[in-house]
Amino acid sequence: MAKAELIAEAYALSGVEAMLPARGDFSLGRDALQALAAKHRLPYVLSNVVCADPLPWPTALRFARGGSEVIVVGIASPDLAVPGCTVRDAGAVLASLPADDTVVIVLSDLPKGQDEALAAKAPAIDFLVRGNSMESLASPEALEGGGLLLASGSRGKLLGLLRVSPTAGGRGWRDAGAGAARTQEVADAQTKLAELAERKAAATDERSRERVARQEAFWEKKKLKAEAALASSTAPDAGAGSVENELRPLGTDIAEHPATFALVAAFKSQHSGTKSAPPSTGPSTQHEGTGFGTFVGNNACTGCHAKQAAQWATTGHARAWASLVAQERQYDPDCFACHVTGAKSSGGPTDPHQLGGLEDVGCESCHGAGRAHVTSPAEAHLVRSPPTSQCVGCHDSRQDGGRFEEVTYRARVKH
Ligand code: HEC
Ligand code: HEC
Ligand code: HEC
Ligand code: HEC
Repeated sequence: MAKAELIAEAYALSGVEAMLPARGDFSLGRDALQALAAKHRLPYVLSNVVCADPLPWPTALRFARGGSEVIVVGIASPDLAVPGCTVRDAGAVLASLPADDTVVIVLSDLPKGQDEALAAKAPAIDFLVRGNSMESLASPEALEGGGLLLASGSRGKLLGLLRVSPTAGGRGWRDAGAGAARTQEVADAQTKLAELAERKAAATDERSRERVARQEAFWEKKKLKAEAALASSTAPDAGAGSVENELRPLGTDIAEHPATFALVAAFKSQHSGTKSAPPSTGPSTQHEGTGFGTFVGNNACTGCHAKQAAQWATTGHARAWASLVAQERQYDPDCFACHVTGAKSSGGPTDPHQLGGLEDVGCESCHGAGRAHVTSPAEAHLVRSPPTSQCVGCHDSRQDGGRFEEVTYRARVKH
């Protein structure tokens, strides 16, 4: 709840003009969400949910912008479960939208695919903003009804910025930046390939050469795909307005918004207290404590498996806790579980303050809880070769930006 307050307050500070209350928001409970939205005046818009005791938010918001009228509607997913409310099929809401010069923006929490199917039946839609997807689209995708589909991925890693230049009386939109985006993709792949060629030349053994060759194949495929897309991008349609889409990673090169920064800093110091005294940020090979439940922590393994422990220390898994510490997120309940040992398994720690030596993605994250094995290794066996299904519990393609690639990733943890 404290985090929800923080997020609501930050949204209010941002000056946002329309937002969709989605399933995650409703998980606070309807009453709490309404109170929070009222307190921070969140400009919620929800168009297809009907309740016996009506929700306090409008079904559409209207603005005037640069000589155009803009309408924003919000579409909830059919599996939104709010007691006393039903989610109506969004088709009826969309069918009633004006198909004239008005710019229609739909904020959608529908699952991927359902949103496109709906838009195909609603030609009035200009921009469909997909919220319920982990993927981001560098160039907007054309919808069957003539509008564009926008997606900026999940968890605020990328900020989508769309610049729109309408043409009076024109229908449809074309993406002025599509060519540039594809050209950039080709250039990025070329840079990566040049880097890999250097690494291959410098490789001293057959195994590392093979590893680089596999990465080369991956980037070569990416490059060909971008080149093909570039070649097939269609000629601009004269009647259409144009858009330029940009997905900005919110990195350190973007200046902090001072008021929001102060808010977050205050929240962090209030919620970590003395426990956030900065632990070392280097790779942590030594931890204090004897684990939690059936998990004992790496220190109990290294004595008998020194070779594996030495290799492990060179992997990102040995820095996982330090990565959170560097961002002061180690006590954030949304973050710690994948960056420590055992928290994704039953019997493991459920609270970031009970780790006692389970910081980092240690041996038992992959091989299973080891307390029994430590005392009788010949009787209590662990998993010898952890399957990839174990990896993707954390490398879930959401939080890791879809970087996981079975062959190259497994090769890097082998010991
Ligand atoms: C408990 C969660 C968890 C499990 C299980 C897990 N990983 Fe990871 N992995 C992480 C985290 C978190 C990081 C990032 C660490 C950092 O840099 O902060 C990571 C990083 C990596 C990296 C380094 C990526 C880079 O470019 O630096 C590789 C390779 C990797 N994991 C492979 C695997 C493989 C293969 C498996 C399964 C056999 C696996 N992981 C299982 C959480 C996990
Ligand atoms: C579902 C599991 C999961 C959760 C939850 C998670 N992470 Fe991670 N995190 C990963 C994995 C897996 C990687 C490694 C990605 C790679 O390199 O392929 C990673 C990498 C990182 C890195 C290394 C740099 C980078 O971006 O690659 C940082 C920093 C990080 N996570 C911070 C966070 C923060 C902050 C949170 C909470 C908002 C969080 N993580 C929640 C799995 C998770
Ligand atoms: C990211 C997942 C991961 C982590 C973390 C991990 N391992 Fe492994 N481990 C593996 C995989 C995968 C294999 C199987 C490698 C293969 O197939 O050759 C393996 C194999 C082993 C084996 C069997 C070796 C053999 O010869 O059969 C031992 C012992 C072992 N690991 C110990 C450890 C210890 C000790 C740690 C912690 C210091 C650790 N592992 C951390 C993934 C992991
Ligand atoms: C007292 C020494 C000792 C300690 C401590 C120890 N191991 Fe082992 N480990 C062994 C021996 C011996 C084997 C071979 C067992 C066999 O083949 O019967 C083994 C085998 C393994 C294997 C292969 C699968 C299996 O169970 O046969 C893995 C994986 C493994 N250990 C991981 C770990 C991890 C993780 C830890 C820490 C939680 C750990 N070991 C702690 C001695 C130890």
